[in-house]
Amino acid sequence: MWGIKGGVGKSTTSALISASAAAKAKRRVLLIDADFRDGASRFFLGEEARNLKGWYDVLEVGGELDKFIHTLYNGYLHVIPSGTIESAIKYSAEIAEHGIEYAAKKVAETLFTISEYYDLIVMDTPAASFADIPILKCVISSLDAKSVLLSQASIVEIERTLKVAEVTMGFLPKAFVINQVNPRTIADPNERRMLINEVLNITSRKIKTLVILFMTRLYRRIDWGSLEVNMLLDCIAYLLWKKGRGQACMTVTRGLLDMELVKAIAEIEW
Ligand SMILES: Nc1ncnc2c1ncn2[C@@H]1O[C@H](COP(=O)(O)OP(=O)(O)OP(=O)(O)O)[C@@H](O)[C@H]1O
Ligand SMILES: [Mg+2]
Repeated sequence: MWGIKGGVGKSTTSALISASAAAKAKRRVLLIDADFRDGASRFFLGEEARNLKGWYDVLEVGGELDKFIHTLYNGYLHVIPSGTIESAIKYSAEIAEHGIEYAAKKVAETLFTISEYYDLIVMDTPAASFADIPILKCVISSLDAKSVLLSQASIVEIERTLKVAEVTMGFLPKAFVINQVNPRTIADPNERRMLINEVLNITSRKIKTLVILFMTRLYRRIDWGSLEVNMLLDCIAYLLWKKGRGQACMTVTRGLLDMELVKAIAEIEW
């Protein structure tokens, strides 16, 4: 899960996709919070997540990942907090000293020991600057992972994000999330049409496209108990794995995705 800008919703989407896979699609999911500042584990473990050991400690000190797991959704979702800032700093110093390939290899080795158990591993990354792109690229290719790229919802921002992704990574993502769509965009016929065209344009390149509106139920924390979030989990499960209820997408996107488009996105192999 990555983006070329901070605050586009990587952590929120990481949490939503993980919960959707675990609760709606009954996949065994591992969510790794790889952002020591404010990553996705907070949506499940609360503020306490900041003080827990986790991913960077395993990368740095070694040891087994499964010792740092927090289990949710009847055992379907395992969450690993990002870990201590000291370990994150050491890891970053190591990258500076030994290089990117070394760092990526360490990630791949760490995951290899545990990956067999899971159907899906979601990794929430910090905002990627250009300097981080080589690391991302290495990690994605060494794990043979699918990349999910996020952008905020302006057409300019979407195009820019895709262009930077293609040029710097050398490949397009498997899925693209257009997040924080302003409700006014949905209400305005012109903006609405432009956004639909953009979605069609992206899906025509065989990229799964998720559209998430700006919802107060997602702002700052995720209101897991709300009907809206529950519908969104259904929608994500349908678009990604054809589980859950596709019709939910029409409601949560206020009709921006019609059933035909929802089915077309669900059909895209990834
Ligand atoms: N669809 C949405 N509706 C409402 N608020 C949202 C939505 N998506 C994200 N937010 C809010 O935007 C802020 C940034 O989201 P988030 O932390 O997920 O982004 P990020 O890309 O992980 O940021 P960072 O680059 O800092 O890691 C948070 O306050 C979050 O609650
Ligand atoms: Mg984040």
